[in-house]
Amino acid sequence: MNLNLSIVNSPRTDGARVLRAKAALRAELDEPRRQGQTIGLVPTMGYLHEGHLSLLRAARAECDLVVMSLFVNPTQFAPGEDLERYPRDEERDLRLASEAGADFVYAPAAAEVYPDGFSTAVEVGGNLTEVLDGDPARRGPEHFRGVATVVAKLFNSVGPDVAYFGQKDAQQAAVIRRMARDLDFPVRIEVLPTVREADGLAMSSRNAYLGSEDRERAVALSRALGAAERGAREESLQAGLDAARRELESAGIEPEYLEARDAERLQPVAELNGRPVLVAVAAQVGGARLIDNVLIRP
Ligand code: PAJ
Repeated sequence: MNLNLSIVNSPRTDGARVLRAKAALRAELDEPRRQGQTIGLVPTMGYLHEGHLSLLRAARAECDLVVMSLFVNPTQFAPGEDLERYPRDEERDLRLASEAGADFVYAPAAAEVYPDGFSTAVEVGGNLTEVLDGDPARRGPEHFRGVATVVAKLFNSVGPDVAYFGQKDAQQAAVIRRMARDLDFPVRIEVLPTVREADGLAMSSRNAYLGSEDRERAVALSRALGAAERGAREESLQAGLDAARRELESAGIEPEYLEARDAERLQPVAELNGRPVLVAVAAQVGGARLIDNVLIRP
């Protein structure tokens, strides 16, 4: 007999509960877990947009309890990157997370995540963190070390059955999949499609850095990726990449990288080869460093 069954899959009506300490979070989740309720985790750095909300809604639809983490993780920002100016609006985030069906928002202070003397890191190798954004000339492998470490900690603090990530950050998703597999985290990793603005620009908290002129130029990234996929399917991968580069050039955008790689292993590929191929781009557009990608499925 479980009188709770009927409400198990519906969002809390009184808004998400905010928790600042992992001990309190665990205390909330222990009993439901013991009763067999499933837990979905959506890790975020906040300043929520429809991309984040699509992950929350998927978690809401598939899990009994939905936990969103809200933590601007300092260890994944390089010195001189945008940690201090990263946009923040916790009040709005809590409202949007509640509306999208989050039961709990885990929003720890930095000292809760990285107490004095913290000295451990998770490093995913196998080339995954050294290419694209992980190239030392770009964000570097330290970025993904920061991501992998904080996500591993979130997995341990929350103990989710399912964790949700966006294809927008394709390399991050590949790194987390590999980490979860290699370290035997008992969690299913779900990667959901990139949510875009009406004109194609991939939603990102960093789009807030774009002035109106740069906002218009920024649409060239998604247009370039569309051209890449068309060219690849109709002619060759190289023809697709050439067409993409022309799209970027016509908007005056010089990409940091525009590359085709195996979507899972991130090795370079020269042709569509029967496996999913990722075409990924990064570019500075005005005040924002933007990334986007298209997954070309066989
Ligand atoms: P953040 O940039 O806030 O993104 C949180 C999640 O939302 C990530 O899984 C990201 O891929 C997804 N996301 C962002 N934009 C999206 C879009 N337009 N469509 C679909 N999903 C989108 O990624 C991080 O935070 C951090 O690195 C984190 C994983 C939380 C670790 O600190």
